[in-house]
Amino acid sequence: DKPWTVPALAEAKRDGRKLVMLTCYDAGFARALDAGGTDLVLVGDSLGMVVQGHDSTLPVTVDDVAYHTACVARGLSRALLIADLPFQADASPQIALEASTRLLRAGAAMVKLEGAGHKLEVIRYLVEREIPVCAHLGLTPQSVLRLGGYKVQGRDEEAARRLREDALAVEQAGATLLVLECVPSPLAADITAAANIPTIGIGAGPRCDGQVLVLHDLLGVDSGHRRPKFVKDFLVEGGSIAGAAAAFASAVREGRFPDAGHSYAS
Ligand code: KIV
Ligand code: NA
Repeated sequence: DKPWTVPALAEAKRDGRKLVMLTCYDAGFARALDAGGTDLVLVGDSLGMVVQGHDSTLPVTVDDVAYHTACVARGLSRALLIADLPFQADASPQIALEASTRLLRAGAAMVKLEGAGHKLEVIRYLVEREIPVCAHLGLTPQSVLRLGGYKVQGRDEEAARRLREDALAVEQAGATLLVLECVPSPLAADITAAANIPTIGIGAGPRCDGQVLVLHDLLGVDSGHRRPKFVKDFLVEGGSIAGAAAAFASAVREGRFPDAGHSYAS
């Protein structure tokens, strides 16, 4: 299989091919995920929780993400590498440009940032400067202080309307992908149908254009945090790290994951 490119992601949506994404933080696991047929690998700021042991993603720095991005990049041959802009690394267009440039130099092909609102200007600024952007809406963990916890988003009609508007706005601003985290399945399905860019769900039901899980959750590693209902341990059926990635990939491509037990109906 040939390496993924940014324009190939839009083709995948057009062709109805599901996208398989996992997070990763080092070269050895990157090699295994690549071998398991993972399409997209994300150096998530979840590393603050699952690698560093913090209670939130807020302590993560650009140095941290750049270090892990360089490690992961050395292990990949086919998957497209995305790196998170950590807390406040997207506070202004100029700050985001500097951080994103470092992450692309470390080997990422795209950066991900949370939210819409003033972030729309940041997305436009980066895209105009040849930096592909993945947006992230719904539960945005960098908003944990305002939200008061990690909760399902878009449950009432007003919140759902705002989420639909934000999804179209990030696409308009130039985002290439959209991660939807912890939103009811029907809302994620609506957004996926309305959007021209692929949606990647986590706790967002089966009708997104792709799915993502945190590596530690895929492998049943206890990271000391409450396990949300959308998490599934694929190591049991996969038998190895690459096997777990392959089992997740098959389940996503065949529409078997997530099922109703791993989704929020409303
Ligand atoms: O940081 C992360 O791992 C993420 C995914 C959950 C999408 O943002
Ligand atoms: Na993240």
